[in-house]
Amino acid sequence: MSWGLKNRVERIMKGGRTVMLAVDHGYFQGPTTGLENPRKTLTPLIPYADSLMLTRGVLRTSVDANQDIPIVLRVSGGTSILKELSDEVVTTSIEEAVRLNASAVAVSVFVGSEHEKETLANLAELVNEGERYGIPVLAVTAVGREMARDARYLGLACRIAAELGASIVKTYYCADFRRVVDGCPVPVVIAGGKKLPERDALQLAHDAVAEGASGVDMGRNIFQSADPVSIIKAVRGVVHEGKSADEAYAAFSGSRPPAQ
Ligand code: 5RP
Repeated sequence: MSWGLKNRVERIMKGGRTVMLAVDHGYFQGPTTGLENPRKTLTPLIPYADSLMLTRGVLRTSVDANQDIPIVLRVSGGTSILKELSDEVVTTSIEEAVRLNASAVAVSVFVGSEHEKETLANLAELVNEGERYGIPVLAVTAVGREMARDARYLGLACRIAAELGASIVKTYYCADFRRVVDGCPVPVVIAGGKKLPERDALQLAHDAVAEGASGVDMGRNIFQSADPVSIIKAVRGVVHEGKSADEAYAAFSGSRPPAQ
């Protein structure tokens, strides 16, 4: 593994832990609630995120080039919620990722779905290309509607992604999550999933980290919160400061302006 690739992973995984902010949802679901105006949503959150996961379109239009934040560039897509989601291609080249000064590229794999093989080939191709330039690949274990989000399935998907050379794997929290992490030889981060009450989102982050996750790559539970800045700060408390969900929730509640 080249020094450059290791250095880019380290920039994202601050001391082995990370709070990544996922704002790439529009690449298949259009103007997602909370992300209708990406610049407006992102600007106040950037100081509290360890990296941003987004597409090149949102990077170019909505993040100023003077921002000192690692970019995890979403480079798979080509589908929408109106069609078969697993039918993805690589949309953005490694050379473009280098030009955009990305710290990593992100690609979804759909293990068990109709286009499993093509999405795993996308991952393998990006790892091969990434090795040439020292760009790590984050694999997202996307879960088809027909799949169970359990440790057996997620463990299978995460391990395959790591075997194909992903440097970081993003997956979902599930019962017996430790088994997923133990079977995956690279760092695992969790997606937040659908918006939850803030206390529950903090518990999710806490439980994932307690069971071996390196952190979160969270989107909707941050930008769809009534108070995105306070919730991302609270998530940082869990991931970076070892706070319990209760402690982090107290900090979240305490930092919110009183209701009018
Ligand atoms: C979709 C993604 C999204 O970035 C991710 O799942 C979003 O995070 P969240 O679930 O926390 O909104 O990778 O494939």
